[in-house]
Amino acid sequence: MSANEENLMNMSDLTSLCKRRGFIFQSSEIYGGLGSCWDYGPLGIELKNNLKETWWKAMTYREDVEGVDAAILMHPLVWKASGHIDNFSDPLVDCKQCKSRFRADQIDLSKPCPDCGAEGSFTEPREFNLMFSTQMGAVTTDSSTVYLRPETAQGIFVNFHNVQSTMRKKLPFGIAQIGKAFRNEITPGNFIFRTREFEQMEMQYFVRPGEQKDFYEKWREIRYQWHLDNGLRKEKLRFHPHGEGELAHYADAALDIEYEFPIGWGEMEGIHSRTDFDLKQHQEYSKKNQAYVDQTRNNEKYIPYVIETSVGCDRCLLAILCDAYRVENPGDKENQRVVLKIKPSLAPIKVGVLPLMKKPELESVAKKIFDGLNKKYKCEYDLSGSIGKRYRRQDEIGTPYCVTIDYDSLDDKAVTIRDRDTMTQERVSIDQVEKYFSDRLN
Ligand code: GAP
Repeated sequence: MSANEENLMNMSDLTSLCKRRGFIFQSSEIYGGLGSCWDYGPLGIELKNNLKETWWKAMTYREDVEGVDAAILMHPLVWKASGHIDNFSDPLVDCKQCKSRFRADQIDLSKPCPDCGAEGSFTEPREFNLMFSTQMGAVTTDSSTVYLRPETAQGIFVNFHNVQSTMRKKLPFGIAQIGKAFRNEITPGNFIFRTREFEQMEMQYFVRPGEQKDFYEKWREIRYQWHLDNGLRKEKLRFHPHGEGELAHYADAALDIEYEFPIGWGEMEGIHSRTDFDLKQHQEYSKKNQAYVDQTRNNEKYIPYVIETSVGCDRCLLAILCDAYRVENPGDKENQRVVLKIKPSLAPIKVGVLPLMKKPELESVAKKIFDGLNKKYKCEYDLSGSIGKRYRRQDEIGTPYCVTIDYDSLDDKAVTIRDRDTMTQERVSIDQVEKYFSDRLN
């Protein structure tokens, strides 16, 4: 970060920028919104798609990982086998006075209610299952309860054999998936940090029992580096290894990759060494053999162990926005500049095309440049307001480059290209513009 800029942001600055500039809106806003559900607007979806594409390429454009896209609704026994029906719950208490709900493990029950101040008014803690359920089937008597998946991982486990056999995979190999997950969180909040509907990018890596430790360490490094490659600052990232008490019953090692959000350090990604728990459970409940036949070891049969990498897409996107948000010259209102220093490959708009004035001769040149570039990169054509204001708008949405077409362009057949981060401007011949961007953006 340069000397004259600060990462001054708090969550409400960011929420307001996201709404004002078309990144993220409250769900069903015209009806007063729906608790902790959010809609991605035109710029938000571009950023999210870029992030998903980056993850997908990093995780599946390799010889040892294949992708899937499993259904959100799955056989109810999947959730019995995975333990979610019996164990995926948080302890909940209600305040008898104001009826507010809290997670019993997140407040001090011996103290007054944090909302209304009533003393000794909490109900006994009870387990509250976080899965959303619905009915499948039109006739009530035939219908059965199904669940909106609380994680995408189980859609991978149940397809282990389908993928292994159709793609002729040999261990070690992985299966990756991006998709929606749903949790009826008791205390959602902090913008898109904890929501009830969110997207996960998960990968299960199947290995021979005994080899899990090496692959756990390998994936921990790969995933950490991925976050750095997205531009997150090193000092804002850390590992949080799970101690004895925190470790899930099925895991023999686990850690979180945490980011320092404005609300404090928070989990962004989990890396879990999940043993053979899930495949064994599915073997027991489905009565289908989940063993792998290892041809390299005299056809030895065993249930593979699994290393899981699981990152929340929305939470990762939040970290990227928090990290990129800079205020330059914060003490100087006149010269203050808010700029999203997002890595160009993730930026929602790559190039802003800005004719200096609304004049047909400038517009015809500008439109031609816009039409050429927009086939390759998401661009924005902007005519309204002073050029300074237009640059500021592009800075605030993270556009790495702006192309300005002025009267000189008509004579010298060149345009001005401005860099978001340095604000330097260079004159580039119109016939070199496409090459200029292919050198920098591809
Ligand atoms: N399959 C393993 C699994 O689901 P998890 O730690 O519960 O593990 C993985 O979730 C990631 O999903 C988290 O690190 C977080 O980024 C994201 N995540 C979980 N719950 C979330 C929520 N309510 N809202 C937004 N993201 C969430």
